[in-house]
Amino acid sequence: MPPQRKFVLSLGASLGCAAMIAALTGIAQQSAPDALAGFNTPSFNSAASVSNGADEPSGDTFALDQQIFERNHQEKSDDPTQTGLGPVYNGTACVTCHENPNTGGASQITELRVGHSDPVTGNFVNPTIYVAGSKTPITGRSIVNDRATCPEAQEHVPDTENIRTLRAALNTLGDGFVEAIDDQTLKDIAENQPGQSNGKIHGEYIEVAISETSGFKRVGRFGWKDQHGSLLSFAADAYLNEMGVTNRFHPVDATSVCKKTTDPEDVSDSLGMADIDHFAQFIRATQVPPQDLALAGTPSAQHGQALFRRLGCSICHVGSIKTGAPDSSPNGDAYKIPAAIGGKIIHPYSDFLLHDIGTGDGIVQTPGLQETANKLRTAPLWGLRTKSRFMHDLKSLSLDQAIARHRVEASEPAEHFAELPAADKQDLLNFLNSL
Ligand code: HEC
Ligand code: HEC
Repeated sequence: MPPQRKFVLSLGASLGCAAMIAALTGIAQQSAPDALAGFNTPSFNSAASVSNGADEPSGDTFALDQQIFERNHQEKSDDPTQTGLGPVYNGTACVTCHENPNTGGASQITELRVGHSDPVTGNFVNPTIYVAGSKTPITGRSIVNDRATCPEAQEHVPDTENIRTLRAALNTLGDGFVEAIDDQTLKDIAENQPGQSNGKIHGEYIEVAISETSGFKRVGRFGWKDQHGSLLSFAADAYLNEMGVTNRFHPVDATSVCKKTTDPEDVSDSLGMADIDHFAQFIRATQVPPQDLALAGTPSAQHGQALFRRLGCSICHVGSIKTGAPDSSPNGDAYKIPAAIGGKIIHPYSDFLLHDIGTGDGIVQTPGLQETANKLRTAPLWGLRTKSRFMHDLKSLSLDQAIARHRVEASEPAEHFAELPAADKQDLLNFLNSL
C-alpha cells in the first residue's frame, strides 16, 4: 500500500468525516457553513421549489422567477407577457437547455461556434455570415444560431470558417455562489497552481466587462471561456443569443431579416424587473447541486476522493471554495451578496480558470485574448452524475474517455489515472459518480 494511502486511511479512522474531508482538501482554515445543496427546482412545478434563502426584490418570488425562466416563447403573440423570439435563435425558453435533472441544470443540447484564423497574424477572427434576403451580414460573434423564425433568416456556416466546434449547455444551479467568489480567491488559486504541479499547471484568469456597471471589470467565471463575470450579464447575453430577445444591454437583434417586433423586447414589469432580472434572480437563489451522500460515504468513494487529490485532479477541480462576504458588491454597485450566499463553502470541483488540456476549441470570445483560443474553463464536477456525455463538445461517452482526453497541462494526472490498478480506478469513478 503506498504511504499516502495508509495516511489517509488512518486519518479516516481517527478523525470525524468532516475533519477528514477538511484534511484531504486542505480547507481546515476555511471554517464556514456549507451552501445549501439540493435539486430543489422541479421543472414546471415551481410551487414545490425551494430556494437557498436569498432575499427577493420587493413583490418578487422564487416561484415567479422560475416560471419566467421556464416560459415558452412564441414568434409573435397577443400575450403581453410575451417578448417574441428570434429572428435567429437556439431555443424557445431558458429551460429548454437548462433542465436536467430539474430547472436550471444542464442538458445534452449543444451549440455551434465557428470562425477562422487571420492568414497573416494567425489571430482568431469571428465569422461573417450573410443570411438570405439580407445584404447586411451578421458579424462580431462566433455563435451560429441553429434556428430562425423564417427560412430566409437561417444562418449557415460559410466555407471560409474552418474553426468549428460544438459546446454543451452548462449547469446554472448554484451559480449565485460562484458569482459571489471574490476575484482575489480565484487569482490566488491560479497563483498557487504552478507550485503544486512543478510548473505544469497554470490556470489563467481573465478580466471581463460587467454589462450592468459601465467601466467595471471582474474575473470571468461563467461560460466555457469564462466570458462573463456576472449572472445578469450572462442572462442578458443569453436572452439575445439563445432566444433572440433584445434587452437593455443588447438592444439590437443579430439581423433584421424577418424581424417583427420592436426593440428592446424585454422591458420592465410592474415590479420594475425585466425578464433578465428575473433570470439572474432565479439562478442566484438556487441551491448548489447536492452530492449523493450515500455513495460518497462508502469506503470506495472516499478512497476515490483521496486518489483524486493525490493524482492532482483537485489542483484544477478545486473541492472547496469560500464565497465572498455578505453585503459586499462584486459586480460594482449593482448587486449586494445576500447573507444566504456570502461566506459559504461550496464544493464545485472547479477553479473556474482557463486551461489548455489539449481539447481547446480554437475560439476566442473575449476580444484581444488570443492566448485563450485553445483553453477552456475547468468543467465544474458538481452535478456530474446527472450527465450522460462529457466535455465541452460532449464527445466523451464515458468518464474514462473524458479523463483520457486530458493532455498538456493535465497530462500527468491523466497518465497516473491510466496507470492505476483497476480497483483504484473504480474507486475514483465511484467518487466522481457521487458528484
Ligand atoms: C439552446 C440552448 C440554450 C438556451 C435556450 C439557453 N442556454 Fe444558457 N447555456 C447554453 C449553453 C450552450 C451554454 C454554454 C455557453 C458557452 O460558454 O459557450 C450556456 C450557459 C449558460 C450560463 C453559464 C453557466 C455557467 O456556470 O457558466 C448561464 C448563466 C445561462 N446559460 C443562462 C441562460 C438563461 C438565463 C437563458 C434564458 C434566457 C439561457 N441560458 C438559455 C445553452 C442555452
Ligand atoms: C489542468 C487542469 C485539470 C486537471 C489537472 C484535471 N482536469 Fe478535468 N477538466 C479540466 C478542463 C479544462 C475540463 C473541460 C475540458 C473540455 O471540456 O474540453 C475538464 C473536464 C473534466 C471532466 C468532464 C466533466 C464534464 O462535465 O463534462 C471530468 C470527468 C474530469 N475533468 C475529471 C478529471 C480527473 C478525474 C482528473 C484527474 C485525473 C482531472 N480531471 C484533472 C481541467 C483539468
